[in-house]
Amino acid sequence: TNQFCDARIGYGDSGCGVSAAASSSKILIKGGTVVNAHHQEIADVFVEHGIIVDVKPNIKIGDDVTVLDATGKFVMPGGIDPHTHLAFDFMGTRTIDDFFSGQAAALAGGTTMHIDFAIPVGGSLIAGFEAYEERAEKSVMDYGFHMAVTKWDDTVSKEMEIMVNEKGINSFKFFMAYKGALMINDVLLLEGLKKCKSLGALAMVHAEHGDAVFEGQKRMIELGITGPEGHALSRPAVLEGEATARAIRLAAFVNTPLYVVHVMSIDAMEEIAKARKSGQKVIGEPIVAGLVLDDSGPWDPDFVTAAKYVMSPPIRAAGHGKALQAALSTGILQLVGTDHCVFNSTQKSLGIDDFRKIPNGVNGIEERMHLVWDTMVESGQISVSDYVRITSTESARIFNIYPRKGAILAGSDADIIILNPNSSFEISTSTHHSRTDTNVFEGRRGKGKVEVTIAGGRIVWINDELKVTPGSGKYVKMPPFSYLFAGIDKVDAMYFSSLKAPVKRAW
Ligand code: URP
Ligand code: ZN
Ligand code: ZN
Ligand code: ZN
Repeated sequence: TNQFCDARIGYGDSGCGVSAAASSSKILIKGGTVVNAHHQEIADVFVEHGIIVDVKPNIKIGDDVTVLDATGKFVMPGGIDPHTHLAFDFMGTRTIDDFFSGQAAALAGGTTMHIDFAIPVGGSLIAGFEAYEERAEKSVMDYGFHMAVTKWDDTVSKEMEIMVNEKGINSFKFFMAYKGALMINDVLLLEGLKKCKSLGALAMVHAEHGDAVFEGQKRMIELGITGPEGHALSRPAVLEGEATARAIRLAAFVNTPLYVVHVMSIDAMEEIAKARKSGQKVIGEPIVAGLVLDDSGPWDPDFVTAAKYVMSPPIRAAGHGKALQAALSTGILQLVGTDHCVFNSTQKSLGIDDFRKIPNGVNGIEERMHLVWDTMVESGQISVSDYVRITSTESARIFNIYPRKGAILAGSDADIIILNPNSSFEISTSTHHSRTDTNVFEGRRGKGKVEVTIAGGRIVWINDELKVTPGSGKYVKMPPFSYLFAGIDKVDAMYFSSLKAPVKRAW
C-alpha cells in the first residue's frame, strides 16, 4: 500500500490494484436537464480534453465516446465549496483529512472544487502559501486558496501584494476570535481592509468577539462546566452579532466589500441583511452544519459524540438554522460552504477535561450537496437553478473564476454532476470517504443523489465508486477585482467630492 490507500477509494492510475476509470477523454451526457444559475433546458453535454465543448439537444458523436444517459436527471456544475480546512494545523493537532482524502470525499458528494484557507507559517504569508502548495500536491480535484492574515507589519503588507499579484490569491481572512492564536485586533482589521481594497482582494472575517469569548470561557470553567456544552455556552450569538456588525461597519468606513464566513446565527444574519439593504456589498456564507443541525449535540452524555459538534462559532438552536435557510432562499445570504475541518475521536479527546482544548471543527465537504438539495430544494424553498447558484455559481463569481467554473457552458471546465432527484442518500461514518471516524450528520437520509461526478473531464464517481488520481487536481489562480469591486472607485470619488473645503479660520 502507499500513502493514498484509504479503504473505499479507488485509484485511477496506480496504487491499490483498482483498475483505471472507465472513461475516455470524450464524454457525452445525454438527455438530462442541464441546469445553470440563469437557465435550465433539456440538452446533451459533450466533454473533450477536460473542457465542455458543446451544450445542445441531440449532439451526434463518433464511437470512441463514453456515453452517460441522464434522462430524468439534473446535469449541473460540480459544487464549489468556498470554505474548507484540509491539512490544517490547529489547536495542537492537524486535521485528519488532507488534500487527498478530503477531496476524494468531496468528489463522492458532488463537489469538484474547494477553496481552502492557507495559514501563515511563523507570520509569513509566503511560507504559509508554500506549505499549502506542497500539501496540495496530491490533489484529486481543482482547488484555490484564501490566505489568512494573523499579524501586521510592512512585510505582511508587502506579502499580501505578492499573494495577489503573483500567487493567484484574491481573498484574505481575518480571525476576530481565537485569542492568543489566530486572533487579530481592530487596528489590524482596519489596516487589512484598506490593503484588501487597494489590491482588489476580498476581505473575509471570522466574526466573534474574541476577548469576550475568552471571558465567557473563564466564566464556564469557574462554574465547573468543563464539558463540550461549555463551548457553546461560552460564546453566545450576541458575540457573533457584535463582531459581524463591527466588521461590517469598518468595511463600510473603508468602502470595501466584505465576506462573512460561517454565519451561524440570526444575530449575524440580521446585521448582513441590514447592511445589504443599505446598499453595502456584504456577502454572507452559512455552512451546511449551521443550516441543518441544532445546539443539542454538545449536550450528548457521550464525550466523543458531544465533541464532534464542537466548532466556532457554535451551532445554534434550531430557530437559527431555519432563519438561515430562509435568508438563503431570499438572497440575504448568497452561498453555502462547509468549514470542513475534521478531527477524529482521539484528536477531539485532547479536550476531554476542558472544552477549550477540543479541536474546533465539523465535517461537511462530502455532505453539503446532498443536504442542501434535500433541505432547500426538496422542501420547496428554492428552485434547482437557485441550488446551482448557492452551491457553485456564486462561489465562482465572488472569487472571480466564472464562467471557467460554476457553469455548464461551452468553454467551461468539465466539472459536472448528474443528480437523480428520485434516488436517495443516507449519511453514515461506515460509508463516508472522509478519514474521520465520526460524522455530525450520522443517520441523515434524504431525497436526491449525486450518481456521477466528473472532475476535469474525468469520471471520478460512478456506481458508488471513486476513481481518483493523486496529482490530477489543478491549482486555480483567482484574479483580483471581482464584480464586488465594480463602482467602488465611483463611490469614493463622490464621497471625496462631497466633502467641503476646510474652513479657513483666522487667529
Ligand atoms: O471551528 C471551526 N470553525 N474550525 C475551523 C477554523 C475556523 O474558524 O474556520
Ligand atoms: Zn480531440
Ligand atoms: Zn472561522
Ligand atoms: Zn473555517
